[in-house]
Amino acid sequence: MDRMLIDGGVTLNGKVKVSGAKNSILPLLFSTLLAKGKHRFTNVPKLADVDSALKLLQELGASYSWEGNSLEVVTNDLTSNEAHYDIVRKMRASILCMGPLLARTGSASVSLPGGCAIGSRPIDLHLEAFQEMGASIENKSGYIIATAKPLKGANILFDITTVGGTENVMMAAVLAEGSTTIENAAKEPEIIDLAEYLNKMGANVVGAGTGVISITGVKELKPATHEVVPDRIEAGTLLIAGAITGGDVEVLDCRPKDIETLIHKLRESGFKVDEGEDWVRVFPNKSWKAVDITTAAHPGFPTDLQAQFMALMTVAQGTSVISETIFENRFMHVPELVRMGAQISLDGNKAVVEGNSILEGAPVMCTDLRASAALVLTSLVANGKTRIQRVYHVDRGYEGIDKKFFDLGAKIKRLNEPME
Ligand code: EPZ
Repeated sequence: MDRMLIDGGVTLNGKVKVSGAKNSILPLLFSTLLAKGKHRFTNVPKLADVDSALKLLQELGASYSWEGNSLEVVTNDLTSNEAHYDIVRKMRASILCMGPLLARTGSASVSLPGGCAIGSRPIDLHLEAFQEMGASIENKSGYIIATAKPLKGANILFDITTVGGTENVMMAAVLAEGSTTIENAAKEPEIIDLAEYLNKMGANVVGAGTGVISITGVKELKPATHEVVPDRIEAGTLLIAGAITGGDVEVLDCRPKDIETLIHKLRESGFKVDEGEDWVRVFPNKSWKAVDITTAAHPGFPTDLQAQFMALMTVAQGTSVISETIFENRFMHVPELVRMGAQISLDGNKAVVEGNSILEGAPVMCTDLRASAALVLTSLVANGKTRIQRVYHVDRGYEGIDKKFFDLGAKIKRLNEPME
């Protein structure tokens, strides 16, 4: 089981390129089920979650081949419409195969994903939307069996904004009979990226990135080629790594607009941050003040950067209040940060972070993807060594993060140690 060993007290300096977005390539991969033929993607991050999605596509009858960070997916004849528990439990985004399978074949059988470390993460909004589109939904021995012959366009109003729900309905609606409107739609950049690819395949999706998305169903789609957008969460994580170590780090191949709330908060905290068309740079800073954040759906402060920002606040001047409004249990990183000397108290969905902590290296355990990133960040500034266990969580969402940090000057190495 891989571990990471990090020596703290190093300042990171230099330029680092961001990989393609995990949360974009995952829905894009499932959208290939909508059209027979050869789909091509470039700027694809090599991640454990991408491997899981490709394994599921293979089980459904697709084939794929890599060339560097370019990926070809061929989805001629699907041989199954079932997503098994062993894949779904490892990667909840597998639920995104339901919309395309319903649209392409009229039926889908997907294991209930179950909860995960950050919350119960139900899929009720996805299923209610499919029912409004004419699907019948049955829950049988842990599987959701959906059939819809045909799938009809509908007016969907989500009670709460759901990224996956918006994506699943988009992928169902593009081949449905008639028109679909999605109100209170998620506005994340990954939604826009998916809409762009669907339209390249011949779909008719209008309004992605706004709260109202309109889709007119078409008869057939054709495969296309697409470059995956840069990963805004990785970009933000790398920027915070530069900030927390008092370094000068320039993040390349990113889209500053996608992380404007983080940039705003870094500046409010006292960092000099410059930005260009496809780069953001944080400058050396010896001390910074605590600022409060409240996570929210895009364009609010991303919940996926909450843990990383909390790491930065543990060594800020003053007290920061961090409110998590998207997931009910996204403070799994707190006990591990406290073990390193952070002073954090929890009160419901709020974490009160006392700054000026003296962080000490310690053996810590990853619990979920973004919590792991927070542990790597604090270990960069802690005194002494930190041994991080279960780094497979990190590998789910960050392509070669240890090499990226190493190239910026971190004393970090991966230990291939026997199973724990
Ligand atoms: C996506 O998850 C991302 N994953 C998450 O990133 C991200 O944190 C999340 O959006 C919010 O931005 C991918 O894109 C693969 P939601 P998703 O549906 O779609 C509740 C990471 O670290 N909800 O927008 O699952 C849900 O419980 C991951 O990269 C329902 O109640 O998130 C949550 O409280 C973590 N019923 C809220 O909505 C539903 O049917 C937002 O969830 C669906 C969601």
